[in-house]
Amino acid sequence: MEHHIALELVRITEKAALDSARWTGRGDKNSADQAATTAIRSRLNSVAMDGTVVIGEGEMDEAPMLYIGEKVGNRRGPKIDIAVDPLEGTETVAAGLNDAISVIAAAPEGNLLHAPDIYMEKLAVGPALAGHLSLNDPIETTLAKASSILNKPLSDMTISILDRERHQEQIAALRNAGVRIKLLSHGDVMGAIDAASDSDVDMYIGSGGAPEGVLAAAALKCMGGEMQGRLLPDGIEEFERCKRMGIEDPRRLLTMEDMVGHDNVLFVASGVTPGELLNGVRYLPNQKAETHSVIMHSQNQTISFLRTIHKMPISREIPAEAAM
Ligand code: FBP
Repeated sequence: MEHHIALELVRITEKAALDSARWTGRGDKNSADQAATTAIRSRLNSVAMDGTVVIGEGEMDEAPMLYIGEKVGNRRGPKIDIAVDPLEGTETVAAGLNDAISVIAAAPEGNLLHAPDIYMEKLAVGPALAGHLSLNDPIETTLAKASSILNKPLSDMTISILDRERHQEQIAALRNAGVRIKLLSHGDVMGAIDAASDSDVDMYIGSGGAPEGVLAAAALKCMGGEMQGRLLPDGIEEFERCKRMGIEDPRRLLTMEDMVGHDNVLFVASGVTPGELLNGVRYLPNQKAETHSVIMHSQNQTISFLRTIHKMPISREIPAEAAM
């Protein structure tokens, strides 16, 4: 992945963050998402690449922009697959909560899993646990292995999981095992990344969106961590959709290589609302604003943080159409 593409893509997630952050706390997740999507779509064609959206806002007939298969870029650069979530954490922004980001991952053509928009069971860990655990094991076995490898008693381990009704059994098992639980309200891309960063979180488990799983896998590849997944098609229609998207056996365990097949992947994200890894957008006096972003490359496992002051006619007000 060429360096200039990373810089071009991060300018785009910055713009998406700037535009969607204006909707923070306004109870309108659709407008927040629309602002981010428009910002990204309107700029992607200026990037020197022959890109194809493999993970985006949905199928062609349900998403006007950034649909799966859409061609992006100026067609003069390398052939690249793009996975994009203009606003990861739409509810988070609407509710004024932490950890919403705008995110893009990119890899040479054919190297990002075309994940349908269904749930995926996930297991994400950092470098110390990478290669040692399996999503096929019962959670008790996984915790015992992790505790021994990390040389940490279970009572000192922290596992994060989305706070959802469907996770009641897993949460009960975690409580039984005596670990600490970090319950996430939304946003499991950051949840998975936390497990591989310097945070207190040792492991992320549970089910969340499959597209978010691939985005997180791209980040973890750059961080030396590991992500395993298993699609959870609900009914025959979702099962067939997986097959149409090229996943022969939709119920098999997906390894890191299945999700991100190349050693040259790129992950960029900009904070929309404040989070542990990235600060959110801050609007400053004199029509300036500050964004915080991260650029990760898998090839050399570099992680760079970028703080940008933008000078632009930024209004603190919501766009006029929102007031109507
Ligand atoms: P959106 O940005 O599309 O709202 O997704 C947020 C998110 O929390 C994802 O991070 C996660 O994978 C998924 O929703 C979980 O879905 P659900 O809220 O249905 O449990």
